[in-house]
Order: sequence, then C-alpha cells, then structure tokens
Amino acid sequence: MTDVLFAKKAGEELLKTQIAGISSTFSYDETAYHLPVSYSLTGIAVSDRATAADVFARMNNNPLIAAECLLAEKTATGGREPAPYTGFIGDTVIRKLGYSLVDGSILGLALIVGKPESAGGAAAICRELQEKYMLTFLAGGVIPSLSEAGVKLGLEYRLVPLGSTPLYGIHFVDIIARVAMMFGGVTPGDAHRLLAYAAERAKAIVIVFPGLSDEEIAFVDGMRVLGFPILSLTGYEGGEWIPATPDTVVRTGMEKKGIRVNVTAIPIPMACSPAFEGKSIRKEEMYVEFGGGRSPAFELLRMKNVGEITDGQVTVIGPEIGSMTEGTANPLGIIIEVAGKTMKKDYEPVLERRIHNFVNYGEGSWHVAQRDIIWIRISKEAVAKGVKIEHIGKLLASKFRMDFPQLLDAVAVTLITDKDKVLVAKAAAEKVYEERDARIKGMRDADVNTYYSCTLCQTFAPNHVCVITPERPALCGAISWLDGKIAYEISPSGANQPVEKGSLINAQNGEFEGVNRFVKKASHGEIERCSLYSVMEYPMTCCGCFECIALMLPEVNGIMVVNREFKGVTPSGMSFSTLAGTIGGGAQTPGFAGISKNYILSDRFLQGEGGIERLVWLPAQVKDELKPRLLPLLAQRGLPDLFDKIADETNATTIEELTVFLEKVGHPALTMKPLV
Ligand code: SF4
Ligand code: NI
Repeated sequence: MTDVLFAKKAGEELLKTQIAGISSTFSYDETAYHLPVSYSLTGIAVSDRATAADVFARMNNNPLIAAECLLAEKTATGGREPAPYTGFIGDTVIRKLGYSLVDGSILGLALIVGKPESAGGAAAICRELQEKYMLTFLAGGVIPSLSEAGVKLGLEYRLVPLGSTPLYGIHFVDIIARVAMMFGGVTPGDAHRLLAYAAERAKAIVIVFPGLSDEEIAFVDGMRVLGFPILSLTGYEGGEWIPATPDTVVRTGMEKKGIRVNVTAIPIPMACSPAFEGKSIRKEEMYVEFGGGRSPAFELLRMKNVGEITDGQVTVIGPEIGSMTEGTANPLGIIIEVAGKTMKKDYEPVLERRIHNFVNYGEGSWHVAQRDIIWIRISKEAVAKGVKIEHIGKLLASKFRMDFPQLLDAVAVTLITDKDKVLVAKAAAEKVYEERDARIKGMRDADVNTYYSCTLCQTFAPNHVCVITPERPALCGAISWLDGKIAYEISPSGANQPVEKGSLINAQNGEFEGVNRFVKKASHGEIERCSLYSVMEYPMTCCGCFECIALMLPEVNGIMVVNREFKGVTPSGMSFSTLAGTIGGGAQTPGFAGISKNYILSDRFLQGEGGIERLVWLPAQVKDELKPRLLPLLAQRGLPDLFDKIADETNATTIEELTVFLEKVGHPALTMKPLV
C-alpha cells in the first residue's frame, strides 16, 4: 500500500528539483496555446527554464505545471514516442471533438493511468467506458496491458493512448484547458475561471491503477484542483482518492460528476455505441459489402399511420448473410417505417440521415453516404460472432426508438437482399427522393419569415449564437434550416429556436431587425448586430466548430477561405489553427467568419462583399471536392472562368505570390469596390 499523502509530498519535492534542471528550450507546434495548462492558468507562454520556473512558482509549485514543462522539454529533446502513442494532441483534433462533446455523442472524458494487475480487468473497464459514451485517454502501463488483451486503441475507438508513463496524462489536462479557451470563453491567465470551468463544465474522471511513482502520485493528485474525482483501484491509501473496485469504478466516477447515461443494451451479437462510429472496415476485414457502386443499394425512411405497423418488427426479404459469398458485393434495400402521433412527413429526411450514424455504431458494421448511393460493410469478425442482416434491422429499430422516444411510437424495418426486389423498391425510393428535393430545393432566404437559431455550442462558448437560414447552413456544417425547424418542433425548448426576421435593415449584408434582437438576447447582450451575409460588417459569432474560415485579404481586395483539414500556412501568413485560435470562443470578429463548406455553393455566399467574385484563394482539396457542383453554378451566374482564377496552395502560398497570380489571371476582385 502506498500512502498517497506521503508520496505526494516527496513527489512534489522531486518535481521542484527537476524544474530547476531544465536546460533546453521547447514548444509545441500544433497549437496556438503554447503549453496550454501553463498558458491558461497564467497567460505566460512557457518555453525555457526561466519561464517554467516563473509559472511554477506563481502557481504555488503546482505539479500539473511541472509535469507539463518537463514533458514538453522531454518531447522537444528526445522526440515523440513511437506509435501507438499519440503524445500531444493538436488543436485541429480538439476542435473536431468539440462538436461530439456538445451533441451528446460523447458524455464525458476519462483518464486511466498506472499498470493494471490483469489485462482483462482493464479491458472490461475500457469497454464499459466505450459503451457509456465516454472518451477515454490512457497513460502508462495500462496501454501495453490493453494491447496485450487485443483491445483496439485510437481516437476512432475512443481509447486514446497518450504516452508510456502516467505523466503523459498531462495531455488530458491540456485538452481540457484548450477546450475552456476555445469554446468556453476562458481568457488565458484567468486561473479562477479556468478552474471553475474545469470543475463545473468538464465532465472528467480519473481512474488510477497501481504502480505510480511519487512524482506521478503528486501529478495525479494535482488534478483534484480541477474538480476531477480520482478513483483508485488498489494499492493506495490515505489522501482524498476515492477507493473503487473494477466493477463499480466507472459508475462511481460518472455519478460523482453527474454524468447520466441512458443506454440499454440491444440484443444482438455485436456491441453498439457511438464509440465505434469512427472506425472503418477495410477490404481485408470485410465479410460482405452492399452498394458503393458495386451492387444496387438504397435506404428510405417513411412515415406510416399509428397502428399500421408493428413496433420492433424486422423482416428480411431474400437471402441471409449465410448464403452470401465472402468478399462479395450484394444488393440491399433498407426500408424503415415509423409511426407516432407527433411525427410529420417533413421529418422523414432528417430521421433518414440517422441511419448513417446508427449503422456505424455497430462494432462490426460500417456505413457511408445516403439514399441510393449508400455503401455498407459488415466485418468478418462480426459475422464470426453470429451477426446477420436481421441484426442490422434490430439495431436500427432499437436505436430509432431509443433516440426519438417522444416522436416515435413504433418502428419497423424491412431489409431486402433479393436483387430483383431491391431494384423495384429502389426505383420507387428514387421517386420519393425526387419529390423531397423538389420541396426543399430552391428554397430561398427571402421565401421564409423565420430562421432558426442554434445555441448548442453555448456549453463551451457561452455567448455564441448561430443563425441558420435556408441559404446559409450552420458554420459546423451539421445543421440546415430544415434540421433547425424540425428540431424545434420536436423539442420546443431545445437549442434551436425560431428567429423572426423582422424588418430589413441592410439587404446586401442580410441584416434584419428581428435577427439583431434575437442575437442580442441570446448572446446575453454581448452582440448588438449580426449580418447574415457579410464577413466585414457584424459577421456572425464563431464558436470553434466551423468547417472553414473566410477572411479578408486587404492586399488583394479579396476574401480567402481555408478549411480545417488544410495544414499549411495560408497567404494570410497564418495556418488554420492559428486563425481558429484568434476568432473562436463566441466572439464577433469583423473581417473573419466561420462558415460551412456548403455555404460556398450558396447564392448568398459573400453577398455583403459583392459575391463569390471576391473569393481569391481556396485550398485545392476543397476546390476539388466542390468542383462538380461549383462549375455549373458559376456558369449559371455568368462566371464560367472564375473557377480557374481562384488560387490555391499550388499557385500561391504567400500574399506576394497571390498578388502576382491574381494579376496574371485577371481576377475580378482586383477591380471591385475596395474592401476596406
Ligand atoms: Fe454549434 Fe452552431 Fe453547429 Fe449549433 S449550429 S452545433 S451552435 S456550430
Ligand atoms: Ni460550436
């Protein structure tokens, strides 16, 4: 038994000596937040012994600071640890995680440190965390233990192996510090707010296996200031750690932080959790596939009257998986029928899109795309465990009932695998898609009097408000006007509220008196005015989840757009992550706007600045992705040659190169009304 209090004292002394022994300079390059824990607590950018010692002393010799500085120095001098260890996790990944944290697909965060006595026991704890929608980070001996037990590790499995010793757990703390600064409006140096944020908003728990050294104990104990419960399994006594057993540790920790889960196991021979949503099934791992251009496949969700269908009924028409040849592509039709007193026909496409998530929740099933271009795979591993086509139906029926309890009273699923029948049903489904498209397509902002707000991200960015219109999807790319409308109808007191446009203030910028009034109230008085279509004047606030950033380049009288995936430095002189660090947190920053990729295709894109003719630079990957849809649009608008005049990183990486390129091609922005 190790006495926690005693070990902690000794550990703190050791850390103090080590801080004094720092000899090289260090920094992380995938973040705009320096050493995030030190930076968030003190506002100081630590990079050498002097700054480290200063911050350490200011924070009363806090072991978290020591761990952060020592590991940063170690990484800078010795390099990163080899795979599977992730080491420090960059800002880009954290911004992506932001949305999962707000939409409820991640309920909380856990850190596991130490060396388990049995690999099987640790694996069971991790499995429970996965099934309870937790995102788990691992540091130290637990990682080889899990690998030995055959547990798959990685962000896509929600089990993130940070590093080979428990001190790497500091990367768990630096993530929370950055979430607080990116999304929570915590200013660097405001230690008080950071600690309050961590204690109240960060749903984080720490699980400790035996074998920690004195320094490691001091470090783990240091996390108590952030309000994280420390749950110890065996080998420790004293201090304020909470004793727990492998069977109860997850439940106890989650209860302590008030994390409530409502997951009922679905009776199929395959685990089912959002933890598996990110994994893919490679060709070698696949037993059979459906669609993906290799065989006819489609999915369709239709509303029925209450009483017309039997809840939970799953029907397979055609051969089951046992009669399909391994490695082949097979026909598949998924037809979901739903009924409920408050269900409406308009909701069909929104619910239909959930099929994608639900199929991916299955540990051995994978899904991409939608409608009649779906592509589904089932893994060999799953089939070996007994998974059949029927179980995909059970999974869908159960998940729809679980996730929409107020809306749906009955869900029935039919899966067709007989080729001729799939073809007939697919032709009928295509008619339905066309009717739906006709209803939504061409819907203009001017045609409706009500827009919808989204304040989901206020969990992290307390004053942020998205206003979503038919022609301006939300900056995160996840929510359309129709989604907002339906979400409001399904849950009238939720995060999506109707916004009456009210009278027009500025047509070009898209400024309305009603929108301003709403935004002022929803931003707690912080934002007075909000224009829907301008980057320059009163742009919408940014929370941190934007797919892309649009920003002005006054030197070339134009606007550039950069997407989250773009890693290089843009002609603005900054990378995406540096830019994102400057504009997030719920602030309004004239000259900058967070936007979704699809908004680039909208007629309202950059309307305030004169339209898409202002667009001077866009990363090649986005250009390629949008090309098939953008080319016809530009032709329609009488700009057939604009596409090739928009620069990308292959022809301009600096503002000087961009100027030369734009002049050479005669880009229209050069002769437009001055931006500033
Ligand atoms: Fe966050 Fe806006 Fe997306 Fe809502 S619409 S989740 S507030 S980014
Ligand atoms: Ni957000």
